[in-house]
Amino acid sequence: MVAFNVAHAQNAADVAKPAAHAAAPLINGYQPVWWKEAVVYQIYPRSFQDSNGDGIGDLNGITKHLDYLQKLGVDVIWLSPHYDSPNADNGYDIRDYRKVMKEFGTMADFDRMLAAIKARHMRLIIDLVVNHSSDEHHWFAESRSSKDNPYRDYYFWRDGRPNPDDPSHPLPPNNYPSYFSGPAWQYDAATQQFYLHLFAVKQPDLNWDNPKVRQDVFSLMRFWLDKGVDGFRMDVIPLISKQPGLPDLTAEQLKDPSRPWANGPHRDEYLQQMNREVLSKYDVMTVGEALGITLDEEPKIVNSERNELNMVFNFDAIRLNRGAGDTEHPWTLPQLKAIYDNHARVLGKQDWDTVFLSNHDNPRLVSNFGDDSTLEFRVRSAKLLETMLLTLRGTPFVYQGDELGMTNYPFERVDQFDDIAVKNAYRELVVTGKVTEAQFIAVVRRIGRDNARTPMQWTAAPNAGFTTPSAKPWLAVNPNCTTINAAEEEANPNSVYHYTLRAIALHHAHQAFVYGDYRDLDPTNTQMYAYTRSLAVPGKPAERFLVVLNFGEKPVEYTLPDGMKAGKLLLANVPGTVEAGTSTLHLGAWEARAYTY
Ligand code: NOJ
Repeated sequence: MVAFNVAHAQNAADVAKPAAHAAAPLINGYQPVWWKEAVVYQIYPRSFQDSNGDGIGDLNGITKHLDYLQKLGVDVIWLSPHYDSPNADNGYDIRDYRKVMKEFGTMADFDRMLAAIKARHMRLIIDLVVNHSSDEHHWFAESRSSKDNPYRDYYFWRDGRPNPDDPSHPLPPNNYPSYFSGPAWQYDAATQQFYLHLFAVKQPDLNWDNPKVRQDVFSLMRFWLDKGVDGFRMDVIPLISKQPGLPDLTAEQLKDPSRPWANGPHRDEYLQQMNREVLSKYDVMTVGEALGITLDEEPKIVNSERNELNMVFNFDAIRLNRGAGDTEHPWTLPQLKAIYDNHARVLGKQDWDTVFLSNHDNPRLVSNFGDDSTLEFRVRSAKLLETMLLTLRGTPFVYQGDELGMTNYPFERVDQFDDIAVKNAYRELVVTGKVTEAQFIAVVRRIGRDNARTPMQWTAAPNAGFTTPSAKPWLAVNPNCTTINAAEEEANPNSVYHYTLRAIALHHAHQAFVYGDYRDLDPTNTQMYAYTRSLAVPGKPAERFLVVLNFGEKPVEYTLPDGMKAGKLLLANVPGTVEAGTSTLHLGAWEARAYTY
């Protein structure tokens, strides 16, 4: 795919959407667009590649590996935040939206990286984190300085509630909890009011009801778009509109960690304004992190006629194994299938979906949804999951290292974690004696965010080639880098890496995997996930594909429904068995195949 705005246009007019774009004939009722056909790869820059030996990944490190990504078949890179930040939440707390984080390099490094991405016909989307800023942003420094400062209303400041037990220490204005433990309000002695922070104390929420905030955000978006970036992943975007008056949450709302603050009444209005004033002037893709958005509500944001965002990350699938309070929860294959079936039913031709089962906030793909207990099962189940991600309907997102089958880290102690969410939860749960240290570690080692943030495993050398052998990486390298690393996998045609490359190539080779219909052949089967993707375009031969996935270690004999027969074998994670032309298939542990039919 050729990047449209290769020339690093200097202003909006230079990158305006080409008129021909909208006129392309529909495919199976869908408007064809580059971001529907793209495979996206997420880079968490802190952990990708350190180029200067300080133990922290950086932009020059990314530039160094662009050939690797191009060879894999990546079309779009999503870069987690690269902006100037004090790193209370690893860059999701931005101090200056127009500067590069010094640990990651300079603006010149960014420009070089972007040019090198475009030169390889790939595109770049960046993280837009504008529900909140850092408390070190100059807007907040002004805002907190006095009640009549012009920036006061850029954030949410409220008086506390009277505290009958201790009148000199007022209570928070309402009962909102922060996503990172404790209350979502911080008292500020300077003006004797509280400010709202739905995440860390150092991440005050921006007040989008103030039109000046919206204009400042739109301006910083233009700054990056005019440099030539191809769009945004938008952090917790539904939270930008708060509930009027900030009323207390009900007991019911408090039980659900993901929904309480979502869906304020101005969400769509603000996104439409953003689209009208900024996004519509560029040929870009947008994907919103849809925290708290139910599937039924999703079309409000992604329906192309409403002019808001192109896609959202819906968390139904990735959070299938989470209960209330972020604990683990058993899941079944029919539940997972029901989620994808519902997506296919609810999202229409004007809507578009994403497919993802991992990112920097979740455990490793293979450890979470596959089986990393043995070498054989790890490799097979990692390949099975990539098969699924690249053949289901929606734009697929691959998280760095999953193409190698990287696993969770064997955490044993809390001091091995860097994540503010884990550290705050430890204080709230273990230090207060609500759970034991052992109970706490048992949970966070399975679901903690740092599992996905350990450095990328490039080689078997000390520090896995992520940084120099003598440097101290910001987060420990997984000891299994001696066996799981890019160098070995690139050299081994049977590796997860090569399989992922083939699965991406298959996705790119057939429009049925993009625009085709989806049919689940057996929704209640507890071990087999079998589905078809089919596309009939007038004047072209019909494309019909069958995907069969054995989700577990038990071998399965599976008879296809309605006399259907497997055709030509296109992709298989266990070499040797073909079974073309038959109705009854025999799949071993975690076996995955894609056929024509
Ligand atoms: C969602 C991001 O993905 C996560 O990493 C971050 O901590 C929160 N939003 C707050 O920005």
